Amino acid sequence: MWCKLWFFGAISVLASIVRASDDDVVYCNSTAGACPDDMPCCSQYGVCGSGSYCLGGCDPRYSYNLTACMPMPICKDSQTIFNNYSSKMKSQYSYLGDAEANAWIYDGHVLDDTDDEALILAMPKDSSTLMSSTRYMWYGKVSARMKSSHRAGVVTAFILFSSVQDEVDYEFIGSNLTNVQTNYYFEGGLNWTHSTNVSTTNTFDNYHDYEVDWHEDHISWIVDGEVARTLYKNTTYNATSGDYDFPQTPSRVQFSLWPGGANTSSYWTKVWAGGEIDWNASDIQDPGYYYARLQSVNITCYDPPAGTTKNGSNAYKYVNRKNFTLSGVEFTDDTTVMGSLADTGFDPDEGKSSSSSASSTSSRKSTTQSANHKKTSTTSTATGDAAAASTSDSSASSEGQTGFVQNMQSTSGAKTGSSTQNSTGGAASFSVGSNTLMHILAVVVGLASAIV
Ligand SMILES: *[C@@H]1O[C@H](CO)[C@@H](O)[C@H](O)[C@H]1NC(C)=O
Ligand SMILES: *[C@@H]1O[C@H](CO)[C@@H](O)[C@H](O)[C@H]1NC(C)=O
Ligand SMILES: *[C@@H]1O[C@H](CO)[C@@H](O)[C@H](O)[C@H]1NC(C)=O
Ligand SMILES: *[C@@H]1O[C@H](CO)[C@@H](O)[C@H](O)[C@H]1NC(C)=O
Ligand SMILES: *[C@@H]1O[C@H](CO)[C@@H](O)[C@H](O)[C@H]1NC(C)=O
Ligand SMILES: *[C@@H]1O[C@H](CO)[C@@H](O)[C@H](O)[C@H]1NC(C)=O
Ligand SMILES: *[C@@H]1O[C@H](CO)[C@@H](O)[C@H](O)[C@H]1NC(C)=O
Ligand SMILES: *[C@@H]1O[C@H](CO)[C@@H](O)[C@H](O)[C@H]1NC(C)=O
Ligand SMILES: *[C@@H]1O[C@H](CO)[C@@H](O)[C@H](O)[C@H]1NC(C)=O
Ligand SMILES: *[C@@H]1O[C@H](CO)[C@@H](O)[C@H](O)[C@H]1NC(C)=O
Ligand SMILES: *[C@@H]1O[C@H](CO)[C@@H](O)[C@H](O)[C@H]1NC(C)=O
Ligand SMILES: *[C@@H]1O[C@H](CO)[C@@H](O)[C@H](O)[C@H]1NC(C)=O
Repeated sequence: MWCKLWFFGAISVLASIVRASDDDVVYCNSTAGACPDDMPCCSQYGVCGSGSYCLGGCDPRYSYNLTACMPMPICKDSQTIFNNYSSKMKSQYSYLGDAEANAWIYDGHVLDDTDDEALILAMPKDSSTLMSSTRYMWYGKVSARMKSSHRAGVVTAFILFSSVQDEVDYEFIGSNLTNVQTNYYFEGGLNWTHSTNVSTTNTFDNYHDYEVDWHEDHISWIVDGEVARTLYKNTTYNATSGDYDFPQTPSRVQFSLWPGGANTSSYWTKVWAGGEIDWNASDIQDPGYYYARLQSVNITCYDPPAGTTKNGSNAYKYVNRKNFTLSGVEFTDDTTVMGSLADTGFDPDEGKSSSSSASSTSSRKSTTQSANHKKTSTTSTATGDAAAASTSDSSASSEGQTGFVQNMQSTSGAKTGSSTQNSTGGAASFSVGSNTLMHILAVVVGLASAIV
């Protein structure tokens, strides 16, 4: 549910790619197929590119080949207290894969709540926010102390999400603050029947501890220390495929706040989200945004599946083009870090080794800008400029990037994409409208030039 509906992020990612016409956007999915070699990475939103597209969430199923996506930083035990933490977080548009330097990245708006000693995920009008761990967990226990947002149409989520879209969810619907939904997906397959409800006290007013205890053979959802649900792998066997339809691949920890009740959402999505969102609600008047609060997140790593091949200890990577279950994942010592936002898993250091000369900068641009691949040519790219800015001065670029995201989102009202829906189950999928993309890209290019 979460991944299919969180479409604002898709727009942000698309916008970061290149200055391009509609024809330049290349999709990757089970029907469109895999990405071409000049923009080889399939993002979690099903769009081809390089740079950020090859990092977290890069989908090996529809990327050019198994080398395109960067390896996934390995699990590491951690305790994060999100007090006065926002300045330590990097925008996902400037992150290059160094999980040691950046434990959490974000897209949207994060702020500090000094009274609550918490991180605020904020959602001003017509926007959304996603934050993600940079490391992957395979398997482990993750605990989050948080308060959800509230009101109709406002969805808060705490999930585990893998690059092949295995997913383990907590979802908070703002119209029902005494109920938390749990859910799971295997390789992105929608099945509305996997959701359950957990009853608790007001999730907006009170901090609760939400935990996912993920083992090879079972997953438990634990709220305030009480097991609310356990899913056993052995109950998920699919005789047709011979696989267990059970989340089983390395996953990042993500938190998001998004408008399920946006007027562009489908009928069933709005119903699920508790109705249409009110963008004039008191939260929007003061403090100016809907918000959820996060105080701490602790991660304890468990062992990978017995029999996993360990050719290193730095990262996980998919090694079997035909099998994206747990048996297709190995350990590697390959780097997780790219030299620039124009690089890919083919040659992660390409940008770094060539970043000192002007001519190589332009060659880097053309790599990213390979949207030319279709037919239209362009003269400059947002990503190329942003990448140059971010490699030369990370603090300046991170400010620039934040401004860019905010500006984009503050003007994104009419551009939330179209949705498709049918009455069979409440599942929905979104696609980004062409004019929408054009408009956003234009805004982004303008901003990128302003930054540089
Ligand atoms: C796959 O990509 C095509 C564009 O080539 C798009 O029309 C279609 O909606 C996508 N399918 C899914 C399931 O996202
Ligand atoms: C993937 O393609 C790239 C670029 O063509 C090539 O360098 C790399 O060796 C390929 N990897 C695999 C596993 O085929
Ligand atoms: C918050 O963090 C910043 C950057 O790390 C630091 O400069 C500042 O003093 C901190 N503020 C408080 C109130 O701790
Ligand atoms: C995470 O660990 C810290 C340090 O041990 C602790 O103070 C905090 O309560 C823990 N948070 C959760 C959600 O378990
Ligand atoms: C919240 O959801 C639970 C579970 O479906 C339901 O029992 C309860 O009545 C709902 N509360 C409100 C206020 O809608
Ligand atoms: C959804 O999952 C249930 C239980 O796991 C299963 O019985 C059902 O066949 C699934 N539906 C589809 C459409 O796959
Ligand atoms: C969970 O609660 C929601 C909202 O109250 C309701 O629509 C849904 O049917 C419930 N799901 C289950 C599995 O009971
Ligand atoms: C599934 O596994 C659990 C725990 O390992 C066990 O208790 C249960 O009996 C198993 N169920 C089936 C249907 O095999
Ligand atoms: C079993 O797997 C097949 C192929 O992946 C899929 O089409 C089908 O929906 C799955 N069945 C269930 C009951 O989930
Ligand atoms: C993937 O590998 C596992 C273990 O070898 C096997 O049980 C499963 O059937 C394979 N799945 C596919 C889709 O090939
Ligand atoms: C949707 O809401 C936005 C403001 O949030 C508004 O600008 C737009 O006109 C609305 N679109 C429709 C189709 O109602
Ligand atoms: C409804 O959704 C199902 C599953 O996603 C899809 O196969 C079917 O074509 C859809 N029907 C309509 C009318 O969109």
